[in-house]
Amino acid sequence: MSSWSTSPSSPQRFGAPLIELDPGSDETLQRQIEAELRQAIRSGRLVPLSRLASTRTMAADLGVSRGTVAAAYDQLLAEGYLIARRGSGTVVSPTASSIAMSAVRATAAESLLKFDFRPSVPDLASFPRAAWMRSIRTALHALPDSELGYIDPAGTDALRNALARHLAVNRGVACVADDVMVVNGFAQGLSVFSHALSARGVTQVGMEDPGSFSSRDVIRTGGVEPVAIPVDGEGIDVDALARARLRAVLITPAHQYPLGVVLSPQRRQALIAWARNTDSLILEDDYDEQYRYDRKPVGALQALAPDRVVYAGSVSKTLAPALRLGWLVVGPDLRREMTVIRKHLDCSTPTLDQLALADLIERGDLDRHLRRTRKLYAQRRRALVDACARYLPEATLSGIAGGLHAVVSLPDGDEDEIVAAALRAGISLTGLRPFAIESTHPVSLVLGYGNLPAARIDSGIAALATVIARAPTVSVTDS
Ligand SMILES: Cc1ncc(COP(=O)(O)O)c(C=O)c1O
Repeated sequence: MSSWSTSPSSPQRFGAPLIELDPGSDETLQRQIEAELRQAIRSGRLVPLSRLASTRTMAADLGVSRGTVAAAYDQLLAEGYLIARRGSGTVVSPTASSIAMSAVRATAAESLLKFDFRPSVPDLASFPRAAWMRSIRTALHALPDSELGYIDPAGTDALRNALARHLAVNRGVACVADDVMVVNGFAQGLSVFSHALSARGVTQVGMEDPGSFSSRDVIRTGGVEPVAIPVDGEGIDVDALARARLRAVLITPAHQYPLGVVLSPQRRQALIAWARNTDSLILEDDYDEQYRYDRKPVGALQALAPDRVVYAGSVSKTLAPALRLGWLVVGPDLRREMTVIRKHLDCSTPTLDQLALADLIERGDLDRHLRRTRKLYAQRRRALVDACARYLPEATLSGIAGGLHAVVSLPDGDEDEIVAAALRAGISLTGLRPFAIESTHPVSLVLGYGNLPAARIDSGIAALATVIARAPTVSVTDS
């Protein structure tokens, strides 16, 4: 059965049935519809701005009640996968997931993309190619034949040693090489962590609201359900976390994603006390603390309670996401089971890449690169602040004391309409809504400035201001 229609702007053909309902499944029909739609969006089979059939048509096609389809649509609207648009019914959100965004890239829209303000991308042109090449050569040259076999799933000694020193010096992490597990980026670390929770019978994990929608997706694939915990000006609300009676939480304490709040000293203490009193675990995502502008560095939370906190990081913001290199720092209690889970996933991270990163760190090239790029991002941040003051004087900027993105809040307007209109004008960005689970917020845009030169930031914000001035202000839900 196929219940899809598409907007004129995305003339796709859906030959195969995209929703298969299994009457014998333990899942309700609504949950099955939600899961199939989510999967179609994540896999790119449903591209951004594709129009869904009306609830009436979809219900008739699938042989279910209209209320069941409406409830599934509502859930996906709340999760940010879908948006409701005046005159076009329900469409796939332009920012439904990074995979959906890759599908946008693959369409003709990509060639029309003029300004890429998507968050979470560093300056790709700054990747230290010469230094990386030298480290790859050195690693290959030094690699004995005996090390070309299967290796320890936790990583090579060389990289675990280099990372242990680097994290202790740069982030104050309390660790030795044995505590370090090399993974393929934070995403895999999170997947391993959620599988480990699942194996311990932990079925829910607290997540910051608003927070990373990609992390929520990864957690679900590990068999654990995210539970929304609000964030305020001091970071995650620890009282709300305690009331939720959970056994685990994922947080971004140094620069909350996406709001940019720093977890206050009181909350850090309260969070550790909560973990100790309830025998719970904290996963610390230290995703972009290497970049801060007008505030003091904040050390890793992990150092306060290495037995309660699993620390996670990657090179995705410092070097490039394409390297897929990351790390976990795990205490002895969890280490064995997490190493086994990781081994079952994909054996290990490629040895050569690990050795190259170890060499890059030991030579001091990573630190040099960080010093260089910090200056670059400080200029780009300045350019964003100035451009917003010039072209969007009514907007409020927040979360800019560190990191590579800013939250730009507007006095009015319709967030989804602005994001969709910006995309049509060749400006790619994200609204705050996809990050929210239950939280509400003013109309806000999350603008990444890491991968755009200062002059492009200025013209991009000027173009965005024109889009905002023209965007309609209300949205209407599907009938
Ligand atoms: C909140 C957050 N943490 C971590 C990461 C890094 O993920 P990875 O190391 O898998 O590229 C990202 C990337 O976008 C992110 O948004």
